[in-house]
Amino acid sequence: ASTLGASAAQTGRYYGAAIAAGRLGDSTYTRILTTEFNSVTAENEMKWDATEPSQGRFTYTNGDRILNQGIAMGAKVRGHALLWHQQQPGWAQSLSGTALRNAAINHVTQVATHYRGKIHTWDVVNEAFADGGSGARRDSNLQRTGNDWIEAAFRAARTADPAAKLCYNDYNTDGINAKSTGIYNMVRDFKARGVPIDCVGLQSHLGTSLDSTYQANIQRFADLGVDVQITELDVQQGGNQANIYGAVTRACLAVARCTGITVWGIRDTDSWRNDNPLLFDGSGNKKAAYTSVLNALNAG
Ligand code: G3I
Repeated sequence: ASTLGASAAQTGRYYGAAIAAGRLGDSTYTRILTTEFNSVTAENEMKWDATEPSQGRFTYTNGDRILNQGIAMGAKVRGHALLWHQQQPGWAQSLSGTALRNAAINHVTQVATHYRGKIHTWDVVNEAFADGGSGARRDSNLQRTGNDWIEAAFRAARTADPAAKLCYNDYNTDGINAKSTGIYNMVRDFKARGVPIDCVGLQSHLGTSLDSTYQANIQRFADLGVDVQITELDVQQGGNQANIYGAVTRACLAVARCTGITVWGIRDTDSWRNDNPLLFDGSGNKKAAYTSVLNALNAG
């Protein structure tokens, strides 16, 4: 097939992009979006600060613009992210203990209920593990409400939207390392105790090389009985960019439970990074990395 989405669909997968509501009026941007992608993720519009700017007052205007763009395209819509230590509204940052726990669970319930039946996958909890060699949880206001905050969030999300796949999402998990092993152990424990979790998101914000255990890491999560989604892929531009994009694509295709890939933006100029990490240049032209991905999807 000749587009990313149609090529991924040949093996039952999706190929998505993170999109910003404020860019939907840009005709080059929306042309590429609607032509190439069959999944969308809200880059910022469904986060806690965006959806509950003051406690108990929910605003879905921009989140709904992302949702409706996805629906109009016939695309899957990924929800990102119900709970995260960053991009919390100021009022939540100033809470702690039971008040914060109750506010967080209420947030999960309200947002997942608003979007019930329309979201393919929710990133229920984002980036809750520490970097480095500890394999432990990251310290945060949410973590300080008790170690069970993550499972409480997943249970609330399942109750609010039983049809959505529920993901744990994190970065620096691009191989078998202490952080990804900490997450692996949490998922294994959740599966053993019946905590509702369906998938693990590997963000995959990558530099100039790909960890040699990237595919093996995807496989070990799949072997726990969860799907894996590549959720925020971008790769530093340099000699290896196209090769790394191709290798990530092949690794996902090699694991049956790796169900889709999302790039974190469309053109280099849409990226949160300044190292031209995406598949289209600032003018909207396809880069070598695009061709590498397309060829890999069609070889699968
Ligand atoms: O919307 C305001 C605008 O009104 C204001 O004038 C402007 C001034 O700074 O800020 C705008 O908000 C910015 C927002 O992006 C929209 O552009 C925020 O400051 C900025 O912090 C925010 O950055 C986002 C970042 O998450 C926040 O942590 C990036 O766009 C977004 O790509 C990035 O995405 C994260 C994922 O959610 C989780 N994984 C890592 C990934 C990259 O950091």
